Amino acid sequence: MFTIKTTTAQQTEDIGLKLASLVTPNDVILLDGDLGAGKTTLTKGLAQGLGIKRYVKSPTFTIIHEYHEGRMPLYHMDVYRLEDGGGDDLGWDEYFFGGGVSVIEWSQYIQDYLPDTFLRIKLERRDEQADERQLTFQAQGTHYQQLLETIKEQLHE
Ligand SMILES: Nc1ncnc2c1ncn2[C@@H]1O[C@H](COP(=O)(O)OP(=O)(O)O)[C@@H](O)[C@H]1O
Ligand SMILES: [Mg+2]
Repeated sequence: MFTIKTTTAQQTEDIGLKLASLVTPNDVILLDGDLGAGKTTLTKGLAQGLGIKRYVKSPTFTIIHEYHEGRMPLYHMDVYRLEDGGGDDLGWDEYFFGGGVSVIEWSQYIQDYLPDTFLRIKLERRDEQADERQLTFQAQGTHYQQLLETIKEQLHE
């Protein structure tokens, strides 16, 4: 586990950009944090880093947005609307094992469907008025532990 602070939206986007150069097919990244924490902002950087030029917006009303024009597919999910259930037949594994990178905002709402291993990034805003965000990276499984170590090295350069 490690923590890093950003003080602008661009810095959070840049972390996504770096992450894009390190992810491999079937990677699953959970983004947890309150509304406005920066989950979509980080995803924008990730998409850009994968070579996706289309505008990435919060997919709240569609749950899953797929982007196929980059180095590998991006499956961007915002499962906020599944807070009270309803995710039973969305075919999660076809995304998680579909050869792309899955990014899931509000992943706690589909806990039952998540794979056993993943990278989790928790985004926190300490002061409602400020732009500072604290990002905490946690890895589940050896593959993601390795990824986390590499990210840590790269972000501290
Ligand atoms: N350090 C920061 N990191 C990320 N976003 C920031 C930061 N400072 C300010 N912001 C702003 O906060 C908002 C984050 O929104 P968004 O990424 O959509 O959050 P979420 O998807 O978590 O609801 C954006 O308007 C962004 O410009
Ligand atoms: Mg969002």
